[in-house]
Amino acid sequence: MESSRREVDEESVLRPGGAIPGPPSPPALAPAPGPSASGVPLLDLNVQNMALEPELKTAFERVLRSGHFILGPEVDRLETELASRIGVRHALGVSSGTDAILLALMALGIGPGDEVICPTFTFFATAGCVARVGATPVFVDSCPSCFNLDVAQVARRIGPRTRAILPVHLFGQAADLDGILELARPGDVAVIEDGAQALGAQYKGRCVGGFGDFGTFSFFPSKNLGGFGDGGLIVTNDGNLAARARDLRAHGARPKYHHKYVGGNFRLDPLQAALLGVKLPHYDEYSRRRRANAAYYTERLASLPGVAVTAGAGRACEGAAAAPAPEGARMILPGTHQDRTHIWNQYTLRLPVAGERDALRSHLQARRIGSEIYYPVPMHRQECFADLERVDLPVAESLARQCLSIPIYPELSRRQQDEVVAAICTFLES
Ligand SMILES: Cc1ncc(COP(=O)(O)O)c(C=O)c1O
Repeated sequence: MESSRREVDEESVLRPGGAIPGPPSPPALAPAPGPSASGVPLLDLNVQNMALEPELKTAFERVLRSGHFILGPEVDRLETELASRIGVRHALGVSSGTDAILLALMALGIGPGDEVICPTFTFFATAGCVARVGATPVFVDSCPSCFNLDVAQVARRIGPRTRAILPVHLFGQAADLDGILELARPGDVAVIEDGAQALGAQYKGRCVGGFGDFGTFSFFPSKNLGGFGDGGLIVTNDGNLAARARDLRAHGARPKYHHKYVGGNFRLDPLQAALLGVKLPHYDEYSRRRRANAAYYTERLASLPGVAVTAGAGRACEGAAAAPAPEGARMILPGTHQDRTHIWNQYTLRLPVAGERDALRSHLQARRIGSEIYYPVPMHRQECFADLERVDLPVAESLARQCLSIPIYPELSRRQQDEVVAAICTFLES
């Protein structure tokens, strides 16, 4: 299910104009949009990329003329810039966010017989990589407010075979890193931060990715630093781990044709690095606009009857027990927890009343407003993990039924946001 959802994602974000849902089916749907409504895509890649067309073409031509197509100065430059931005000693460009996680696990020597604790409410790659190295993913429930690992539950699942904790900074907001690092410290437990959706998001004034043994990032086109195909980054402050990851990125060879480890081909292309390098100077502005868009949604929606901001906003992440759904709310807006900045890769609503999430999705679709369900099936319910220990993870299961992400990309105009808000108003009035 998750993989088919992914195929839809990949198709839609690669299509010019982004993820505009298909035409509405006229009967049984709410009234058609008014004459001014023109639809709002979930994501519009072209509007961001075409604004940089001349610089992107120059970068393409520079790589074309260089004749240098594997690693080299373009990749080095991007790695140096990103390491400095994230505040880490080492950054390596890799083939995808998925391969960055795989490489981290491989560099830590995690494999059969080992357990890795990770959230069940995440994109498949987090858990898939654990299984691919032969280790066992141990799934943990989520905080209903920030959607990240519930640290109290991590504590209960740590055992003698635990080799790593793999928190995800979901939707652009950091997980409770202090809590996770505290649990990892007493034993031989590594921390790999999956920051695919959170490049530049901060926890206590520092960027995510630099807290654990490794941090990993994705340049998948829908990410905040969206590339022109697949790409990713792995970061660390540990020189030995960086050297191991560097070797594993190119078949574990050092020197060439002498293989101390079994690695793979996990390299970032220089062309991708050069194009990403054109977008990087604009990254702070992209983040600023995403924040402004999130603030505008919250301002406009929070005053509507039946709408509440998540109880955890402005507070430390304290997991399920401390963040109950606001009494009687039909729609819960996302918020930023204490000590964090949010980079809003997604603006994710929760609709706790049974059936209302899907009803809102249809309502938006009828008005050609894009939305997406991240994620409809938690990892512990995936068919490929059916052989693992059966666990009951109720928060993640409710999030999978209740969450709906709406357009938040930087170039979204106020008029488009007003259109989304108006559609939500009519939904709540119905
Ligand atoms: C949380 C999370 N982890 C890992 C990945 C994998 O990144 P990529 O698509 O670059 O392989 C993604 C991207 O979709 C993600 O959202």
